[in-house]
Amino acid sequence: MRIIHDPVELQTLALSVRRTGKRIGLVPTMGFLHEGHLSLIDEAKKRSDFVIVSIFVNPVQFGPNEDLDKYPRDFEHDRALCEEHGADVIFAPAPDAMYAPDRSVWVEETKLSRGLCGALRPGHFRGVTTVVAKLFLLAQPDVAVFGQKDAQQALVIRRMVRDLNFPIEIVTAPLVRDTDGVALSSRNKYLSPADRERAKVLSRSLFAAQRGELDADGVRKAIAGTADKVDYVVWLDADTLEEPTENTREILVAVAAYFGTTRLIDNVLIQEKK
Ligand code: PAF
Repeated sequence: MRIIHDPVELQTLALSVRRTGKRIGLVPTMGFLHEGHLSLIDEAKKRSDFVIVSIFVNPVQFGPNEDLDKYPRDFEHDRALCEEHGADVIFAPAPDAMYAPDRSVWVEETKLSRGLCGALRPGHFRGVTTVVAKLFLLAQPDVAVFGQKDAQQALVIRRMVRDLNFPIEIVTAPLVRDTDGVALSSRNKYLSPADRERAKVLSRSLFAAQRGELDADGVRKAIAGTADKVDYVVWLDADTLEEPTENTREILVAVAAYFGTTRLIDNVLIQEKK
């Protein structure tokens, strides 16, 4: 497995791999890998011949008062996990290798990214689409794998790929949970044991919604009773992120809430009965 820090070196390698006829799979991450990320790498392995995992804590998707500086990092652990899961390359650039000081180009999706996390984290999705577009140009993937945990992000990236004609298949892999139901996230590391215990309310309420035992209001009440702050609880069409209509195929029930100072997101999908 190769470790590459230089963007141009990655692009040169990726172009030469493509010339041999191999399919490239890309798994973009911010590192501090857990089982959720590893399931994305495994999925990319199944769907391609050469897997690139990017590890880059992308500064431009963090707001001024967010956790960029304390975002957890453990490169040696990540390296061992990538190796174990058969990645061919880790791409780990430094921020100034990715962004020139006088950069002036952004990639922005303007519809799906407006609500939910986009409304509460201004500039977040613009930072995500910009870095993912750059990673696509550098890693030249045939297929890129993202997690359903960031449901809005996955939709925004699909829309970017559709609207800008990136010749890339986007795969959204299922959300992975711990045995206690809590969705895996690098940010779970911030939770105290008591906060972690309380955080179970997210999956508990979402599962109850999936079983038809709670509606949007019920989920909101259950979470508001336990979390320190609720950013949103929404019940939307899973494809459009708008209010469900008679054409809605699947509902996305998505939540964002704070436990202590840690903001967690979670979601479930509910098939509409026709
Ligand atoms: O989901 C993430 O970890 C990040 O938003 C991504 C897609 C790697 C872009 O920085």
